[in-house]
Amino acid sequence: MTQDELKALVGQAAVEFVVSGQILGVGTGSTVNKFIDALAARRDHLAGAVSSSEETSARLRAIGIRVLDANDVQSIPVYIDGADEIDHSGHMIKGGGAALTREKIVADLAERFICIADESKLVDVLGAYPLPVEVIPMALGQVSRRFEAMGGKPKTRRGIVTDNGHTIIDVHGLAITEPLAMEDEINQWPGVVTVGIFGRHRASVCLLGTPSGVRRIDFLPAAAPA
Ligand code: 5RP
Repeated sequence: MTQDELKALVGQAAVEFVVSGQILGVGTGSTVNKFIDALAARRDHLAGAVSSSEETSARLRAIGIRVLDANDVQSIPVYIDGADEIDHSGHMIKGGGAALTREKIVADLAERFICIADESKLVDVLGAYPLPVEVIPMALGQVSRRFEAMGGKPKTRRGIVTDNGHTIIDVHGLAITEPLAMEDEINQWPGVVTVGIFGRHRASVCLLGTPSGVRRIDFLPAAAPA
């Protein structure tokens, strides 16, 4: 099976998580586009959707789904989105499609994050995929130097302005062995809008497309603090 077919498989499988009458969170990317295609065929009546990008909003409207402002929503039962990498605890790298900030905002509103991906995205350690970071342009130099000091090789993504008007740096060469600690640290750097480590907003469930079908992984909830 091609990667595209594996994406279509999990896009279709994710429709089972959609509940009529509820608000749905919808992410961004080629796998999510397959999910939206499958959703169109189901014709579920949703209360509306909160979307993580202008592109997804346009696709949702095109199939007759009302797109809601995140500020008008207090909670979203289910958020369906892809990932660039996911580890065995549900931590992810996201932002390959430059939508990471809105994705994290929607994930923060969501009770469950259903990650849909082809099997190539499952990794032991995050970081082979360059880490996307949304940065305010004035801080590009300083943020890049901080990544170099950490052992990474930052590259500014040319020709891309995010939906929020910012720049993306892709950081190569990081081995993200402690996603939560690294996410927390990078979040402190002035000028960083969002880092593409989804550690605090990890997946609850992953649907992985494999040649033998959809493999479902359920991640344990984080232990309550002592
Ligand atoms: C967009 C994302 C996507 O979820 C991620 O890049 C995966 O994309 P695709 O489904 O096209 O492989 O984080 O910002």
